[in-house]
Amino acid sequence: MLNIVILAAGKGTRMHSEKPKVLHCIAGKSLLQRVVDTAETLDPTKVIVVYGHGGELVPEELASSSAQFALQHPQLGTGHAVQQALPMLDEAGLTLVLYGDVPLIQQQTLSKLLDKQNTLTLLTQHLDNPKGYGRIVRDSQGSVACIVEEKDSNVEQQKINEVNTGILAAPTALLREWLANLRNENAQGEYYLTDIVAMAVQQGIAIHTTQPSCSWEVMGINNKLQLAELERIWQREQANRLLVQGVTLSDPTRIDIRGELTCESDVEIDVGCIFEGKVHLAKGVKVGAYCVVKDSTIAANSQIDTYSHIVQSELGEQCKIGPYARIRPGSKLANDVHIGNFVEIKNSQIDNHSKANHLSYIGDASIGSRVNIGAGTITCNYDGANKFRTVIEDDAFIGSDTQLIAPITVGKGATIGAGSTITKDAPPGELTLSRAKQFALPGWQRPIKNK
Ligand code: UD1
Ligand code: MG
Repeated sequence: MLNIVILAAGKGTRMHSEKPKVLHCIAGKSLLQRVVDTAETLDPTKVIVVYGHGGELVPEELASSSAQFALQHPQLGTGHAVQQALPMLDEAGLTLVLYGDVPLIQQQTLSKLLDKQNTLTLLTQHLDNPKGYGRIVRDSQGSVACIVEEKDSNVEQQKINEVNTGILAAPTALLREWLANLRNENAQGEYYLTDIVAMAVQQGIAIHTTQPSCSWEVMGINNKLQLAELERIWQREQANRLLVQGVTLSDPTRIDIRGELTCESDVEIDVGCIFEGKVHLAKGVKVGAYCVVKDSTIAANSQIDTYSHIVQSELGEQCKIGPYARIRPGSKLANDVHIGNFVEIKNSQIDNHSKANHLSYIGDASIGSRVNIGAGTITCNYDGANKFRTVIEDDAFIGSDTQLIAPITVGKGATIGAGSTITKDAPPGELTLSRAKQFALPGWQRPIKNK
């Protein structure tokens, strides 16, 4: 049995924001959601978020998670915060305490904290500059004696550089007993969670300590500066992971991954790209500078050129996209499809070897193989109330600046003359066009400006 209590009631005054601190984001996901997600990987019986400041916004934002919520009001300290969760805890097993504003704690570090079932385990850290943190006070044998908060410490204690990260695990039954005995006679008049350490020692319980695998795991957020710093650290971690896997990044400090990016071999990514949600790049995919790709998969050897935007779409092999292409949700491109500059594709299927290279809108369309869509072609899919589909069969050629008024079908091998407005199905194999005949007016003069 494992209870996980996440403290998230604090005000976060220094964020200077209406939004509760724990709802601010790192890499596109809120601080608290990150902690809840990591907590869930430990397979807990319960996750309880202690909230307070910001009212119901916190429970509302996390409504779809497995977490339960305990209100702490007023906020009388970290020990008081955990007390609010006590009625909801399963009695057997351990309780792990995490913090909603320490977002990057990793599963492997937490697993180490859960090794010992019958004692209190603290996550501690050695810092060159321990200022502001609670210090781990050890006795002459080196065993933990207590934690002293900076504001309650003496000069000798302030020299200790082993600090309390705040994260700890304890047997739930003991935690319940200790919390019942907390007092607030200290410099801040708060109920300190850290006081349970001295209580455990008094009962002859040996305190166990362990350290995080990486120092950034226990970095907390108090202001936008720390938020921005941790964002960069996290982005660099992800970039390093890709580099180690063999991805080529033109500059690992200029990529942003807000979700999960997976890459096969020989992927190259130029600077300034943003990947959101779940993105998969198959082998040999090249992404040019300043592209945004969200919730999409791109098959082998496709090339996405500069300034392209791809959302919720599937691209086949050997496609050439961009520069300046926009592929909107529901698009499915087969192999060797070319989508050029200022072409917008939405909710459309395009089969092998088809091309729309310049200035087009293709929406709600099914396009066959080897189709050429001339520059400026538009599928008129919307009558102001309803959307209709355009079907263009294999080997059709759509002349430039054509409007296809959906619902409409352009038959296999059909040709549409440039500048046409097509309102009825175009027969296969034929040339269809709709445009005024060209004529010249003999002797016509341009108007001249009146004096
Ligand atoms: C706490 C620890 C300190 C440790 C430091 C690490 C205590 C008494 N001290 O100090 O030893 O070195 O964290 O950062 O535990 N919170 C609530 N309700 C409250 C008070 C706090 O939910 O009533 C939450 C805050 O939102 C925050 C966290 O608990 O996320 C820590 O609170 P904070 O006031 O920052 O504790 P520190 O003084 O930093
Ligand atoms: Mg703090």
